[in-house]
Amino acid sequence: MSEPLSLPDNPDPTAAELIAARPFLTRDTLDGLTLEGVPLARIAAACGTPCWVYGAGVLRGRFRALRAALDAAGLTAHIHYAVKANGNLAILRVLAAEGAGADVVSGGELGRARAAGIDATGIVFSGVGKTEAELSLALAEGVGQINVESAEELDQLSAIASRLGRVAPVALRVNPDVDAGTHAKITTGRAENKFGIAWADAAEFYARAASLPGIAPVGLAVHIGSQILSAAPYRAAFTRIAELVGGLRARGLTVRVVDCGGGLGIGYRDEPTCPPTALAGAMRETLGDLGVTLALEPGRWLIGPAGVLLTKVIRVKRQGTIRPFVVLDAAMNDLVRPAMYEAWHGIVPVAAADLVRAPEIADIVGPVCETGDTFARGRALAPLAPGALVAILDAGAYGAAMSSTYNARPLAAEVLVDGDRFDVIRPRQDEAALWAGERVPEWLNG
Ligand code: LLP
Repeated sequence: MSEPLSLPDNPDPTAAELIAARPFLTRDTLDGLTLEGVPLARIAAACGTPCWVYGAGVLRGRFRALRAALDAAGLTAHIHYAVKANGNLAILRVLAAEGAGADVVSGGELGRARAAGIDATGIVFSGVGKTEAELSLALAEGVGQINVESAEELDQLSAIASRLGRVAPVALRVNPDVDAGTHAKITTGRAENKFGIAWADAAEFYARAASLPGIAPVGLAVHIGSQILSAAPYRAAFTRIAELVGGLRARGLTVRVVDCGGGLGIGYRDEPTCPPTALAGAMRETLGDLGVTLALEPGRWLIGPAGVLLTKVIRVKRQGTIRPFVVLDAAMNDLVRPAMYEAWHGIVPVAAADLVRAPEIADIVGPVCETGDTFARGRALAPLAPGALVAILDAGAYGAAMSSTYNARPLAAEVLVDGDRFDVIRPRQDEAALWAGERVPEWLNG
């Protein structure tokens, strides 16, 4: 299932409905749109646009809600935040203080997580293409779990661990061949996807891992995709994993951990979602009686709704009968999700007056030289004057993390709101930094 830019048969939620569904956003009659009580106009004045604004309170609240759902289901489960969703050190620090571990997929993410104070033992290293250097680093740092995805990787890890005199705690990532019902570009648990060990090979593989020097198999891992909106695919995947645990134990092998991956989706528009209580219920039903320690690797669900992309209208281009183009100062280089996955994001005005004005239908675009640089087509939005602010919602996950400097556009600033404070957690990139690392070879200098 894709996330279309617009659904003609089903009218988009209005700005008022989008705000009402997100209790940390309010409409103040004077200050306009606020995030956790802080007027976004004040942040734009202080930090400029485009900028990402995250609410620490929202993030903490979501972490605690997920924790509570797991606890209420009676599960022993660790939460490893997927750093790829948003790796800013301040975000990691907020989550670390809540007791989160981290799921990392590169040496860089491992470094980030450690720099934010996350203990190596609370880190899971995932990914289909870990390099020799990254595997060595993971062992040297003493990460808690390495999720191995292929026979080739297992052999390489065994050799490195033996050389370093270490024992690698390994979970085997299994591909359960389950359809997560999400966008094709972010589905990972089908047999044809590059991820995990084929279901049919998994038991043999685990037995082999147990016999290799430098490898201590601790359990199994599964991650079937991202933006999953129902518990059914989880239940299907976990049922297969539970079967596999039984089969491995019958062969006398020890399985202590099942890492259930990430993927829990959020409501970008008004789609029904899978609440954490339903995910926890599926975990309990399928894996709850196995006496294993469970783990989750959520990214989007924790940080996605906690962030907005705050941006300003550069101009409104009107021509004849074609609907107007609202050109923002944010673009696909900042938030690539609409261009890359046809993703729908709520877009709401910030000024109090704009929040009550009757909308017109417009295309909301960025300044980059590609037609794909479109945030929304045929969207109802109050007629906005140049300089008006808008907030693109649910941009906390895979927003700043996927930004580029395409069209020589500096990376946008990031701001954290916490209580009545806010501070810049990454300044806007200097323009000169765009080319500061480049070198012109001597021979071109004539
Ligand atoms: N664990 C593993 C092994 C993963 O590959 C991922 C995400 C996660 C956990 C976290 O998934 P989450 O809970 O955030 O769904 N850029 C795309 C999403 C890519 C997800 C990649 N893997 C997007 O913007 O929709």
